[in-house]
Amino acid sequence: MCGITAFRGPAAAGHARTALERLEYRGYDSAGIAARRPDGTALHARTLAGVAALATALDEGATDATTAAIGHTRWATHGDVSERNAHPLEDCGGRLFVVHNGIIENADVLRARLIAAGHRMATDVDTEVIVHLLEEEAAHGRGLGDALADATAQLEGSWAIVALDTRTGDLAGTAHASPLVLAEAADGVYFASDVGAVAPFVGTFRVLEDDDIVEIGDEGTRWHRPGGSCRPRGLWPVPETALLASVGRHHDHMGNEIDEQPAVAQRVLDILSPGIDGGTLWRGLGLPPLDRIDRIAVLGCGTSLHAGRAVAGVFERLGHMPTRAVTASEAAHEVWEPRTLVVALSQSGETADVLRALDTVPADRGTVLALTNNPSSSLARRAHAVIDCLAGPEIGVAATKTFVAQIVTGACVALSGLAVSARRDVAAFDADLLALGAIPETLSAALDAWHNRAKRLAADLATASGFLFLGRGSGLVYAAEGALKLKELSYRWAEHQPAGELKHGPLALVDAGTPVFVVDDGDPRLDVDIAEVRARGGRVLRIGERTLRVGGMPLHLPRRGPSWGPLETVVPLQMFARELALRLHRDVDKPRNLAKSVTVS
Ligand code: F6R
Repeated sequence: MCGITAFRGPAAAGHARTALERLEYRGYDSAGIAARRPDGTALHARTLAGVAALATALDEGATDATTAAIGHTRWATHGDVSERNAHPLEDCGGRLFVVHNGIIENADVLRARLIAAGHRMATDVDTEVIVHLLEEEAAHGRGLGDALADATAQLEGSWAIVALDTRTGDLAGTAHASPLVLAEAADGVYFASDVGAVAPFVGTFRVLEDDDIVEIGDEGTRWHRPGGSCRPRGLWPVPETALLASVGRHHDHMGNEIDEQPAVAQRVLDILSPGIDGGTLWRGLGLPPLDRIDRIAVLGCGTSLHAGRAVAGVFERLGHMPTRAVTASEAAHEVWEPRTLVVALSQSGETADVLRALDTVPADRGTVLALTNNPSSSLARRAHAVIDCLAGPEIGVAATKTFVAQIVTGACVALSGLAVSARRDVAAFDADLLALGAIPETLSAALDAWHNRAKRLAADLATASGFLFLGRGSGLVYAAEGALKLKELSYRWAEHQPAGELKHGPLALVDAGTPVFVVDDGDPRLDVDIAEVRARGGRVLRIGERTLRVGGMPLHLPRRGPSWGPLETVVPLQMFARELALRLHRDVDKPRNLAKSVTVS
């Protein structure tokens, strides 16, 4: 949700742009760069054609000479998608430039006051007030860092901001409920929304805490806060996984990320599964023994919430613990009981809805375990315990490999807690341990089985206007995930339902040829649900079938699925959604209107 980069050092605009390419998944409505030329004037380029187009918009010779630069990739909140509204935004004099991620809630009031004071506004964007507030402060002779501190003191909302003074070449950055990191490279200093932007160029980084101001000028880097100076925040090593981008046979990231899922699951198992026995993984996280926890709440949004529901199944079915799934954006009136373990799932760790939801958990009621792909994220820093889901960078906006990684990671953690708990259902636990080890293989088998089938099916169903996804029990979250993937990638309507609910209303949607995906978790009642659909002419696509047909009669295999459900069924659902989207000429890595890291609530 908007990505920010900045660099102070030689060839600054090029560095800021290269880092920005690695952040484009945060928003792709527009991109822009502002940089300081050696003569103190500004180089300013903005485009609606993506970060790559900035390379042509900026003359290479001119960028080589720049000494400080800021960059931005936008996911529009205020103001339409236009070059005029693209960041960086400038002050009246063309000296100060600002990039911003977040929302300024009192922008209208500030805008009116600034216009009355003579400022000319050129855009509809909330961010623009920031650069004019800075201009006012700078006019009073304040240095860039102090001016930024005074300007942000007038703001309400959330922000990560980097400002550039093209006259001095100084940069100043600050954050408030939005992420911003600082990292030193051999030839200069970076700001970025996410360490992934600078991972190949630095070994360590620091994360700004709320309201820190960091100023980078000729005298070096200065940290301060409202009311005084502060020490630089602690150094984090760049995680090895930050460099493990999926590579493969596809042109799009999503295809490669789907293919990588067995390897990701294997990586998680190699690292975490030895800690299941004896509960060492659980204890190592500093969590209280499971027998001192009365209930589990999984918390998240979108795909992460689906993964949370699957993980909740492990506590529920193996430990007979009460669990509930909390949609983070709806948590405002949630009642939190004592001795709750809140498992907060977020691949980015920066989803504002999740962070706001945690504000509703009283300190004496819940222990928060963060399950994230970003161990230095805001979520990770707020939680009592953190587990890295080790998926490596996921560039496609639609979550795929992080979904699998979250479930495998969550299952390992839950099994580790249960391994030493009196609640444990021993037989089911042992069966799940076996199933856990087999996950990479079952994911690979699903990839192989659907390699050509997904494409053929997409060709067949390209004109279908709507899709139903059904499941029962542990299969339901995979039906939900299949529907979410389909709608976000293909822009076709898709709805998921517990199969038993069909006859209570949704069956009216089924007509001749209506595609109905049924995720099979082995529940024999699905046969009846399927018969009901077929009787209305619906086209049933059964995924993950565990039934043999003997003389035309269904014979259910006597097999209980694992407590996290039929994980491998997500593979064909992801593949089908991608193939359909490709056939409809959608950009599968950048679905319209979406962004990967949703830092506004
Ligand atoms: C769907 C998708 C989203 C995210 C959701 C939460 O493919 O990616 O539904 O799962 O925005 O994001 P994180 O996991 O970063 O909290």
